[in-house]
Amino acid sequence: MNFVGSHVLSVSQFDRPAIEKVFAVAAKMEPYAQRRRVTRVLEGAILGSMFFEPSTRTRVSFGCAFNLLGGEVRETTELKATSIAKGESFYDTARVLSGYSDVIVMRHELEGSVAEFATASRVPVLNGGDGANEHPSQALLDLYTIRKELHGRGKAIDNLRIALIGDLRYGRAVHSLVKLLCLFNNVQFVLVSPQELALPEPYVAAIRAAGHKVVESTQLQSSIGQADILYVTRTQEERFPSLAEAAKYKGLFRLNQSIYTEFCEPNTVIMHPLPRDSRGDANELDNDLNENPNLAIFRQTDNGITIRMALFALILDVADDVDKHARDVNWYTARRFQ
Ligand code: NCD
Repeated sequence: MNFVGSHVLSVSQFDRPAIEKVFAVAAKMEPYAQRRRVTRVLEGAILGSMFFEPSTRTRVSFGCAFNLLGGEVRETTELKATSIAKGESFYDTARVLSGYSDVIVMRHELEGSVAEFATASRVPVLNGGDGANEHPSQALLDLYTIRKELHGRGKAIDNLRIALIGDLRYGRAVHSLVKLLCLFNNVQFVLVSPQELALPEPYVAAIRAAGHKVVESTQLQSSIGQADILYVTRTQEERFPSLAEAAKYKGLFRLNQSIYTEFCEPNTVIMHPLPRDSRGDANELDNDLNENPNLAIFRQTDNGITIRMALFALILDVADDVDKHARDVNWYTARRFQ
């Protein structure tokens, strides 16, 4: 894969060497992500950040990643604050905004919307999530997290045993992660969901075509006993025909410390793309797991910075120059990542 000047719209663009490249550059970004060093390599560059669906992590971490490379961020967060609300097409919006930015990241509720926008953009466009379709940067940071967590346990992504739990139908983070895992060897998938929210058939077929084992289940406790990673997800209520329909599925699978202790192997890693839905009727990942050292959810979010820095550095062709424009920080830093 040639990164320079490329859009990142789908994980289908990545092969294993491309993933390794992203991870190698991400590792080089750690001193900057950890606020030990600052670099100005993207000084003067502008990121156009357009999030037309709710977002905390993806929007802020793409912005921080760009800032940490020395660039500036121009944000648009609501459709009604743009001329799309006046009937302007994606084509015109993309032509205009790509004249104002060096790279654009976009999230939108419609599947394929970011790709459509990209065809008219004059600068690279990154998909920050398009409806239930894909979330490539999330899958890359999830895979990077899996690699790091397993490394400490003497394991690798090849031969991984992963349980994907919750709304596998509408969860775009799951969709992209499954596609990436298909590039590895001998992965065992346990898909835990209500039947109505099962992983769509093309993804299951892709898992089988890649030669991996896959088991589908509607039961949490009996499905998590032989996993290296539990990847828990929220019911994507905003994608259901109605909130009443979504409510039928909330709270069906709730992982908490007592279930973890009783049913999981010691040191099973717990992940979640976040946000977890902590409301009483959902609570798929209980707060009583917060002190469990195997809860990797905030290491995941930290890894989002390094992965997104790596994507920008590769796409804008500065990956080899980052250290040339760098110095140690001169302010107090809590070194939160150590
Ligand atoms: C995910 C998303 O938006 O798809 N969140 C995220 O970007 N970290 C998952 C979710 O919203 O449940």
